[in-house]
Amino acid sequence: MAHKIKVLQISTECYPAAKAGGMGDVVGALPLYLPGQGIESSVVIPRYKRKWFEDHSFVSIHSGTVALGERDVQFEIQKLASTELGYPFYCVNIPGLFDREDIYLADDGHGYPDEKERYISFQLAILHWLTDGTESFDVLHCHDHMTGLITFLMQYCEAFRKLKDIPTAFTIHNGEYRGVFGWEVMAYFPWFEEGRGGLLDWDGDINSLATALKCAWKVNTVSPAYMQELIDDMGALTPLIRHEQAKCLGIINGIDDVLWNPETDKYLKNRRLVKNNWKGFKSKNKTFLLKKYDLKARRPLIGFIGRMAHQKGADILIESVEQCLAEGMKFSTVVLGSGDKQIETSLVDLAKKYPRDIGVTIAYDEKLARAIYAGCDFLMMPSRFEPCGLNQMYSMRYGTVPIVSHVGGLKDTVPDINDNGYGIVARSVDAEGFKEGIQRAIAFYGDKSGLAKHIKKITKIDYSWNNSASQYAEMYRELLKN
Ligand code: GLC
Repeated sequence: MAHKIKVLQISTECYPAAKAGGMGDVVGALPLYLPGQGIESSVVIPRYKRKWFEDHSFVSIHSGTVALGERDVQFEIQKLASTELGYPFYCVNIPGLFDREDIYLADDGHGYPDEKERYISFQLAILHWLTDGTESFDVLHCHDHMTGLITFLMQYCEAFRKLKDIPTAFTIHNGEYRGVFGWEVMAYFPWFEEGRGGLLDWDGDINSLATALKCAWKVNTVSPAYMQELIDDMGALTPLIRHEQAKCLGIINGIDDVLWNPETDKYLKNRRLVKNNWKGFKSKNKTFLLKKYDLKARRPLIGFIGRMAHQKGADILIESVEQCLAEGMKFSTVVLGSGDKQIETSLVDLAKKYPRDIGVTIAYDEKLARAIYAGCDFLMMPSRFEPCGLNQMYSMRYGTVPIVSHVGGLKDTVPDINDNGYGIVARSVDAEGFKEGIQRAIAFYGDKSGLAKHIKKITKIDYSWNNSASQYAEMYRELLKN
């Protein structure tokens, strides 16, 4: 039998071990669908101080030290003892730097101040481990800037020269975050080939995303439309991505249709889809939400789930909902998420002003999220940019019509109902555009039989990973052709 291609996914998140956003879902799901394409995939992430890690047993397979300047940092690579995830899973234990509960944020809601020490030690530890040769992989697949320096270090550091010819793939889940550090972090790198330092540089700083754009063998974004948007305008990196365009592509994310199945969803006990009775499923879950938040009944229910961040347009949601309510439009809203404190406060204030129209939960809550996907009539995504977006796919799978911005992955997955598509596409990414979106949603809700037919249509769309996994497999094969 031909040798199976072995790929290592290198990331800071992987569901269910540790997830902060969609990247965790992707890294947790893709390896499950690659074996069907002849690819064996493993995952490595940092070990955080989280319950999931405490509840599982690990075997130590490698240990060592990385020198961050004067500071020696001990690390250990641990392998999950059981096979319960369905793929080999490794974590890097770096006490002092990663034994914290939150993946990215300190208590003040800002990124950890020692971000550079964290990411650099994590990347160096992985390269140390791979250099010892006990485990080998045909392709290293890095995700977002936190793993971007690997693409450089493995090619040009003397210490890792054994890894030099292993092809690398790099996925951009979010091109806004770039991992920019001052040149003083050079002190953390082992010696590398003279004259190569320029590969780390962009505009006078070390830029992890720029480094990956230059050094990875292939670069992809998580939707074709987002790749095009970056090529059109990636801010300071526009000339770079244009220069590297030949190795760039867009592959839309899939969703895990086993985890996201309204008939078996473990979070929806007693409120699951039974015998294709969508009407019953939607109404049971809607009633649950209306009761939970004491909202007015017999009107459309619009949901929002996500980070309270500029990217996700949570401020646009607030403004458009407020304007619509002030004009007396009849609909209810439920919002779940956390993030920017100012946005959180304005939401809570708005819910106080309209207690029977808006329900708000400031949290990350997977169980409640499932109830919202299942119980809402519409799900609003006023994203300013959206590399892929998974919520629109989750919502459609649960019979909820998305109201979306015309950007990135939303463009690729949600054509407008008026063009025989799946959702309501706002005309502009601002309160005005989404106000009109809400108006259209209210009108559509009035057409009961049209809506019921539409639910049948969107719940049948195949957004599973099979299609995307075959594109990743193709990308890995191409890398190994060289
Ligand atoms: C990031 C992006 C989101 C994408 C996810 C998974 O969270 O913001 O659009 O779906 O990564 O790739």
